[in-house]
Amino acid sequence: MQYGETKEVLNQLTADLSQASAAIHQIHWYLRGDDFKRYHELMDDFREDVEEQLDEVAERLIIIDGSPVSTLEEFAEKSTIDSIPGEWGKPNSEHIERLVSIFRVLVSDYSKGIEVASKEGDDVSEDIFINAKGDLELHIWMMQAELNKAPKNDA
Ligand SMILES: [Fe+2]
Repeated sequence: MQYGETKEVLNQLTADLSQASAAIHQIHWYLRGDDFKRYHELMDDFREDVEEQLDEVAERLIIIDGSPVSTLEEFAEKSTIDSIPGEWGKPNSEHIERLVSIFRVLVSDYSKGIEVASKEGDDVSEDIFINAKGDLELHIWMMQAELNKAPKNDA
């Protein structure tokens, strides 16, 4: 199958980006306390970015003759990003740490995508993966700085 591994990563990303979008929406709603308004608005920016990436990867998959997952059930089943019921009373740092861990799942998908798209010669998918990975690494840096941590350091 042409671009078989690239297609699989694009479909994994379709599921993971969909789950990420729902989780970011949840954070947008369940934040409280210090910096509420700033974080609340920032989550809208992040979700917009994730939704743009979602549309781009799903459509790329169609362009190379694949079929993206497209139901909430498929997203939840395929994604490695957990669905966690909304809960009041979490400190904002906990929400932000979860957000960083979600961004790291996406970065890992994109890294895998860069590797397989390069191997399979799908340079357009590779370019999409590289740009999206760079955007997410920027978001991780900003959120880690909010937590007073270095970009790569979760300790
Ligand atoms: Fe809103």
